[in-house]
Amino acid sequence: MKHLIIVDEAEKVFHLTNGDISYLLAVEEGGLLAHLYFGKAVKDYHGQRRYPRIDRGFSGNLPDSLERGFSPDTLLREYAGAGEGDYRLPAILVEQANGSQATQFVYDRYEVLAGKPTLEGLPASYVLDDSEAETLVVYLKDAVAGLELALSYTIYADRPVITRSARLDNQSDASIKIEKMASMTVDFPAQALDLISLPGAHVNERHINREALSYGQKRLASRRGTTSHQMNNTMILAQQKTDEFTGEAYGFGLVYSGNHALEIERDQIEQTRVVIGINEEQFSWELTAGAHFQTPEVVMTYSHQGLNALSQAFHSLIRDRVARGKYQHALRPILVNNWEATYFDFDEAKLRPIVDEAKQLGIEMFVLDDGWFGHRDNDDSSLGDWFVDKNKFPNGLNGFADYVHSQGLKFGLWFEPEMISEDSELFRNHPDYRLAVPGRKPSPSRQQFVLDLGREEVREAVLVQVEALLDQGYIDYIKWDMNRHLSDIFSASLPAGRQGEVFHRYTLGLYDMLERLTSKYPDILWEGCSGGGGRFDISFAYYMPQSWTSDNTDVVARLGIQYGTSLVYPPSVMTSHVSAVPNHQTGRITPFNTRGDVAMSGVLGYELDLTKLTEEEKELVKAQVAVYKDIRELVQYGNFTRLKSPFEGNETAWMFTNADKSEILVFTFLVLNSAQQSISQVKLTGLDSDKIYENVETKEIFGGDELEHMGWFEAPADHDFLSRRYHFKAIK
Ligand code: GLA
Repeated sequence: MKHLIIVDEAEKVFHLTNGDISYLLAVEEGGLLAHLYFGKAVKDYHGQRRYPRIDRGFSGNLPDSLERGFSPDTLLREYAGAGEGDYRLPAILVEQANGSQATQFVYDRYEVLAGKPTLEGLPASYVLDDSEAETLVVYLKDAVAGLELALSYTIYADRPVITRSARLDNQSDASIKIEKMASMTVDFPAQALDLISLPGAHVNERHINREALSYGQKRLASRRGTTSHQMNNTMILAQQKTDEFTGEAYGFGLVYSGNHALEIERDQIEQTRVVIGINEEQFSWELTAGAHFQTPEVVMTYSHQGLNALSQAFHSLIRDRVARGKYQHALRPILVNNWEATYFDFDEAKLRPIVDEAKQLGIEMFVLDDGWFGHRDNDDSSLGDWFVDKNKFPNGLNGFADYVHSQGLKFGLWFEPEMISEDSELFRNHPDYRLAVPGRKPSPSRQQFVLDLGREEVREAVLVQVEALLDQGYIDYIKWDMNRHLSDIFSASLPAGRQGEVFHRYTLGLYDMLERLTSKYPDILWEGCSGGGGRFDISFAYYMPQSWTSDNTDVVARLGIQYGTSLVYPPSVMTSHVSAVPNHQTGRITPFNTRGDVAMSGVLGYELDLTKLTEEEKELVKAQVAVYKDIRELVQYGNFTRLKSPFEGNETAWMFTNADKSEILVFTFLVLNSAQQSISQVKLTGLDSDKIYENVETKEIFGGDELEHMGWFEAPADHDFLSRRYHFKAIK
């Protein structure tokens, strides 16, 4: 096998390359680990890129060195502490027994491993066999503090992806306190870069924000205990001319769903430092003598062919080497969910006709949403009491599930296992199970509170209930929801000196639950959710192959949300439902077909009362379901390409291409029509220019080169919120 990691023993240069990308680092003067390069592959590195020596005032030098041109403050580095004369953002802060926060990590040794080791207790991208990747571990030591830092770098053989993480071993004989420990740092040489991030809000997730980086610091963070709707834990740095189709871009995604910080700093000489990891605010971790701490992973991608190629690298990694289990590559069932149909106002008698209708329309699964348990008739009660409400289901949940199954549909169920209501048996028995600071009243959000999942007995109290239901074997799907963020951070189980661990322990506890449940019930399809897309992150895809993209089902809003989400996440992760009009979030009235086309661009479902549809609408649903069954493999597992951005105008377009480019599906959307419209042109990309394609519907013939270079003119629009779907197949 060809090696992916080339080590120059004499110069201590490490070159990770797979023929597509190169990542180079080297041991510099004083044992500092320097960053050399990340970008398009070079075959061999001939040693020409030594960091220039320039004496800069107020950037100090190494101890015992007369070289004034070499400073930790300006060197391009791979990981830096504080107190060693690098005044830029540190990756690590450790309070030692003597109270000092200073560290000085210098090179000790390295090892190269075949494949990619798993990360203890944490989700991460993986390999199926060792030939897929190689991992470099560089060990740095701080002899005074007695600490060893292991920096891991994995390069995949056939992906423009590098993954990174760090582990700290306390080899001293005293406890230390980690105040900050990032997963990675990378320093980019001076250049103009744009930062692209995915900020948002509940019902307005992941819109694209692009800004030029300037001096000082920029920080994309969550302090909410979870990934959040407000700021996704992924970002892109791009050359200023980079667009969807051309130019260089670097992607970063933290594989974690707790508090994150993605920090970017432009230094005094226009170099850009990136530091990504667990948010250090309200974080500390006591590391006793002999113990170690493992950070989450960061996935880095690179493209020199624009943002689409960068996204496709993320998509393929998330789909193929992050997601796991039975549904990783399986066709996802078309579901109907009763949330927007009934909210809390339902019982079995009311739901049965929806199930009957779903069967008639070809829908494959019925999902029972919030309100089936305890005495939950509104959102004030019962979280924590995961037993069925017999008033709503006199025959038990199994009785209703049997009915759903007898109609030939799968049965799915909503849970919110991380939460507790004051009005619940769980709370009456265990008031200390929720996060609350002694002497203070915890703040409610949606009248609910957060369980202290860092505690094993708390997790157990929920798991026994969830497992009692799942053990009965009639549940085919679970929607795992989380409808508030963490506050009142204090754990009754931790001593005063360890309260800084609560946030991270929560996330580790959650992962422990998810690992146990997803491995114990491998046949269940799991869908992530947090008030829509509040927990859309790479780590969740490791446990759950799909997530509810947003509580906003309005098509105009969804164009932006799905477009932004696709910057990192593949369509197989994004669930998307056709809902009623006027839309429940925006009041907008849009055509049924357009709602179908937006929802069919991800994992399709319906979220409306099917019994209230007109006969004409029922025919439309039948047709959509039939079309989706035909295109579903292409949508869920094809290559997704963005063509026109809703953030740049009135039109949106995207396309799906199968592996051998013999099948193409294009969706175009127009938001507002105008009386004097310009003619819209659609051009495709990434086709086989030698193939001849036929429009399946109109039988029109196009060469691959024609579709790419000339495209076609869209027919004039005659109303607002218009969508169009074009399906091409290669005929030779
Ligand atoms: C969240 C979800 C919704 C629905 C409700 C139920 O908001 O995103 O889809 O399940 O909770 O309370």
